[in-house]
Amino acid sequence: MSQSLATVAYLGAAILFILSLSGLSNPETSRRGNLFGMIGMALAVLATVFGPSVSTSGIAWIVIALVVGGGIGLYAAKVVKMTQMPELVALMHSLVGLAACIVGFASYIDPTMKYEGAEKIIHEVEIYIGILIGAVTFSGSLIAFGKLAGRIGGKPLLLPARHWLNLIALLVVIWFGREFLAAPDVNAGMLPLIVMTVIALLFGIHMVMAIGGADMPVVVSMLNSYSGWAAAATGFMLSNDLLIVTGALVGSSGAILSYIMCTAMNRNFISVIAGGFGSGGGTPAKKSDATEPQGEVVPVSAAETSEMLRDAKSVIIVPGYGMAVAQAQHTVYEITKTLREKGVDVRFAIHPVAGRMPGHMNVLLAEAKVPYDIVMEMDEINEDFPDTDVAIVIGANDIVNPSAAEDPASPIAGMPVLEVWKAKTSIVMKRSMASGYAGVDNPLFYKENNRMLFGDAKKMLDEVLVALKG
Ligand code: TAP
Repeated sequence: MSQSLATVAYLGAAILFILSLSGLSNPETSRRGNLFGMIGMALAVLATVFGPSVSTSGIAWIVIALVVGGGIGLYAAKVVKMTQMPELVALMHSLVGLAACIVGFASYIDPTMKYEGAEKIIHEVEIYIGILIGAVTFSGSLIAFGKLAGRIGGKPLLLPARHWLNLIALLVVIWFGREFLAAPDVNAGMLPLIVMTVIALLFGIHMVMAIGGADMPVVVSMLNSYSGWAAAATGFMLSNDLLIVTGALVGSSGAILSYIMCTAMNRNFISVIAGGFGSGGGTPAKKSDATEPQGEVVPVSAAETSEMLRDAKSVIIVPGYGMAVAQAQHTVYEITKTLREKGVDVRFAIHPVAGRMPGHMNVLLAEAKVPYDIVMEMDEINEDFPDTDVAIVIGANDIVNPSAAEDPASPIAGMPVLEVWKAKTSIVMKRSMASGYAGVDNPLFYKENNRMLFGDAKKMLDEVLVALKG
């Protein structure tokens, strides 16, 4: 393939990536968005493999790598459960970081890359920054993977003088960057490069370890952004325009997503990075401190729940992580359909950080064919709870925790939440009194107008559906 044909193919792929991103911004066009992305990526791979930068003898190696990598990817995509997607995404981000590091070292020792003067300095700066971002992305994403998979506790690791440690690391990286650029040959430059890589790896670990459970949504999108910048840096090292454009698209869309997540949680990006917010997850609600929720918990049965739903004029369903775990979305849809046929106004309220990844609930509801027009964002529906007869919370916890709005001492104080307790009756469906991801007690369970339907969401909803239809 000639250089000009490859350039045209790259341009086409870049346009398809932009169309893909714009399609993914709306559930109704997201399928098309995905398709554009897939075609764009296929075009990009073909133009690269058969383009002028790859020699004919190298194609066999690339095909072997494609078959092995594609096989692993296909297997992972088939076996991974929907609730494990965030972990898979974190692992994939780590691979982008690792690739940036490997490409960086390879292009530094590549004897065919002969640059002089300013060009040499620019190339070495690209290598140094590319490896720096890549190493932070690699180790940070691995720790995020561990936290999301529950292999590492959600409790923030707060080392004494941690901000000073980070500042010293930054100064050392700048110092060794100077040494690296001043090195007369590859052998002399290798030591500063390796020292910087080790520091960047440690920094990535330290940064994500210090971030508490409640801030993990921001971490996921932030590492997504870093992986984009790592890819863009790789593009600079390899003089590959498409990689630069694609990396910049991923980097900037990840940064916008981080901003949206921060707004959704009423958090400032700098304080997220500074760490320490939210203690960890999944522990039983404690009963010891002064701010302990007061009151009685009123359990209800599936039959009572179905009666309340049948008698209601308006119902708001709030799905959360537990709905994903129980895979209850299809039963939720059946219940919605049955209630709507009976003339009940049913809508869904989606919190921006519900579940474990951006858009988690939207994907599940779309899979169950819930109509898009009854699925509302938090801002669109939060004011409607006082006029709602029943708000039913399915496996959600942190996103409906009133202490965020009412208790300034709460670890999640200030985070906007869905105000289900303002409905005439709220029903929370979960298996126990355990806290949610942020590890914070939930006073909602003890409110006078709240009822608890204990059990697995799928099992309970199946019973509710049978009772509704009976
Ligand atoms: P959580 O606060 O994690 O609460 C989920 C609840 O579901 C748990 O309390 C659990 O209680 C219940 N549950 C689990 N399995 C269940 C099952 N099979 N049947 C019924 N209930 C079940 O979830 P949320 O309200 O969706 O809030 C999301 C949290 O995750 C936030 O803290 C958010 O910051 C964090 N987070 C979000 C993201 C993104 S990007 N969305 C990424 C990382 C972290 P039981 O054990 O008692 O059943």
